[in-house]
Amino acid sequence: MESLDALLKKAPTLVKGTSTLEELSEAEAELLGRRSVVAEFQRGIGRLPPEERPAVGKAIQEARRTLGKLIETQRGRLETESERLMLASDRVDVSLAALEYQEGYTHLITSTIEEVCDIFIGLGYRVVGGPEAESGTYNFDALNTPPTHPSRLESDTLYLDWGDPADEILLRTHTSPMQARYMEEHDPPVYVVVPGKVYRADTPDATHSPVFHQIEGLAVDEDLTFSDLRGTLAYFAREFFGSERRIRMLPNFFPFTEPSAEMHASCFSCEGGGQCRVCGGVGWIELLGCGMVDPNVFEWVGYDPSKVSGFAFGMGVERIAQVRHGVSPLRHFFDNDLRVLSQFR
Ligand code: PHE
Repeated sequence: MESLDALLKKAPTLVKGTSTLEELSEAEAELLGRRSVVAEFQRGIGRLPPEERPAVGKAIQEARRTLGKLIETQRGRLETESERLMLASDRVDVSLAALEYQEGYTHLITSTIEEVCDIFIGLGYRVVGGPEAESGTYNFDALNTPPTHPSRLESDTLYLDWGDPADEILLRTHTSPMQARYMEEHDPPVYVVVPGKVYRADTPDATHSPVFHQIEGLAVDEDLTFSDLRGTLAYFAREFFGSERRIRMLPNFFPFTEPSAEMHASCFSCEGGGQCRVCGGVGWIELLGCGMVDPNVFEWVGYDPSKVSGFAFGMGVERIAQVRHGVSPLRHFFDNDLRVLSQFR
């Protein structure tokens, strides 16, 4: 009985001192297991005089109950604690900063093309595309440009297959072959713009690149005149550049238009005169070539030049983007330097 009391006295410290469920199981074995003091007492009951047995038995039952309660209380405490630890280690911190993705945006050349096309769509034009690998026939012959013309030289044009003019293949030098391709396939009236890449055997400098972009325009109808051409381009320039940029038209020559002209915009970087590295001091920058469609082109595609008239133009996309945004030199468009391009989101 002595040691049962001693056991009950030290048990709370032992049980409450456990910090894991394993430790608690060990303590339980020590207090109530087969080799515990309690078990020993139980086994000793048989050796006691019969009249003492009930009291001892009762004391043992009491001790078991007290110890059991103590252990269960501690078990509940430890289980709650271990669950808390498990949940804490499972916790997802949704307040962490999300991964940052860089947002893409349209390249200045693409957005310029889209904007120009939108202006012409507003005037009733359709947008069409065409092949970059073109035959000499469409790039030159259809456009009233004979085999002896200097632009057909290997030093001016990038040929994929050169030699026999009848089946030479080249990288188109302008978007104008689509004039012939479109008219061959469609009856008048025609109102189309054709954006795309063009290629020339040019050495890159501030205003030249062996590959650049053009937007071709072609309008064929009854009674179109040079005034319609001029009015259309003036409208485009006002929409695209705003009314503060001045434009002018000068005579020029293209084999496939007659008469032909070029349109200039006032320089974005100088007032004219002096030393300007953008326009060379003339105060104007050429934007495009244009003119009234030559009757020979109409004949080549099977139109009757006595029944229809039309105008065409071909503008340099990099040029008009340069003039609009004041970007110089040209290579900024192709370098893919985000410090430059991100300014034109
Ligand atoms: N194709 C000409 C060029 O690349 C531009 C042009 C287009 C001129 C249409 C007249 C008519 O320079």
